[in-house]
Amino acid sequence: MLQLSNKRIVLGVTGGIAAYKSAELIRLLTKLGAQVRVVMTSAACEFITPLTLQALSHNPVHLDLLDTRAEAAMGHIELARWADAVLVAPATADFIARLAGGHADDLLTTVCLATNAPICLAPAMNQGMWRDSATQQNCEELVERNIQLFGPDEGSQACGDIGPGRMLEPEQIVAKTAELFSQDILTGLKVLITAGGTREDIDPVRYICNHSSGKMGFALAEAAVAAGATVTLISGPVQLPTPERVTRLDVISARDMHQAVHDQLADVDIFIGCAAVSDYRPAEVAREKIKKDPENSSEIMEIKLIRNPDIIASVTALEQPPFVVGFAAETHNVLGYAADKMRRKRMDLVVANDISDWEIGFSSDCNEVTVIGEELEEPLPRASKTVVSRQLLQIIARRFRAKQTNTTE
Ligand code: PMT
Repeated sequence: MLQLSNKRIVLGVTGGIAAYKSAELIRLLTKLGAQVRVVMTSAACEFITPLTLQALSHNPVHLDLLDTRAEAAMGHIELARWADAVLVAPATADFIARLAGGHADDLLTTVCLATNAPICLAPAMNQGMWRDSATQQNCEELVERNIQLFGPDEGSQACGDIGPGRMLEPEQIVAKTAELFSQDILTGLKVLITAGGTREDIDPVRYICNHSSGKMGFALAEAAVAAGATVTLISGPVQLPTPERVTRLDVISARDMHQAVHDQLADVDIFIGCAAVSDYRPAEVAREKIKKDPENSSEIMEIKLIRNPDIIASVTALEQPPFVVGFAAETHNVLGYAADKMRRKRMDLVVANDISDWEIGFSSDCNEVTVIGEELEEPLPRASKTVVSRQLLQIIARRFRAKQTNTTE
């Protein structure tokens, strides 16, 4: 159930005897890598203490809609936005009725109304209450609104009755929650991405760099997390906030980036080199500011450059390299040079980027690229870097899986 890794689950607990099983549910979800934030109704607190659920979820438990301190930290709207899924387990007949009626009179119903994330309920109640036509109608109404029901199960109940209405076991609820994310194309994969430009010092004042803003690499990192991957982003100096759930490492020079990439490569499935890495750096970095020589009338100043390590080539040269995707920023003969780079550096895919057009390359919000691989040349039309990233990751995931199948066959 790798699908749950890194996922954000709001777990709603309502007031039924099955509330004691929420503790096990939280334990299983967090063990699978999910982040869990618990919202309890006041009735739920009669069955299990918030302290227990706080300790297991490693997060404060949310109780009241009108708690100003809690609202300041993470209010109902933040919780609703934070969630990748809202799971209510146990969901009592009363809660189901209030949700079906569109009530927003406590924190949990409010979060359910406000969220865009999928909502799932694990009903738990006496068999007579479950069979009652009011409950059945409420459930039909909720299913029509795309709210999923996990269960209920049948069997002996806490009240001594036998019949439908038992909450599913925590293991079954976790498996169904994981299924919500089964369409994620990079589930369970570790992705390492470089972004931005590198900076090569000339003296304490000056450096060589390029126009890379980091936007393309950061958009890729965000899209990869949304697609289910665990993402590490190694970035040159840029002015961008870190995308949520991405581990970011900042570096300055090409040699720093080279080192950071090799430090992070263990277990990486896919490496995407989007950074604009300086091919050369000054052979010597002056320790003091280089001054204009008043005796020298020459208009020319020369700086000797030496080659930087090629990060992508050093990754593909490893004995067991990850799946490697490079970018090629070109001003002319874009596809030809990109294909040539792919072969020379032994990449699995290269993304050809025509940077002669300022609307689709360095610093722009949009991009338009062609993905090149063995027997592949797929143009991606002009779109925001966010959209291009999603499309790119579709191709990368497809090619990665195909390569894996071929290798294991
Ligand atoms: O950051 P933005 O402003 O959003 O701009 C995005 C971008 C234009 C930087 C991006 O889309 C892009 O094209 N990145 C690659 C830029 C580049 O340096 O291309 P290149 O053709 O010089 O290098 C080819 C590949 O080798 C790249 O994957 C590069 O990361 C890698 N390389 C280059 C030199 C080096 N010493 N080590 C490397 O790994």
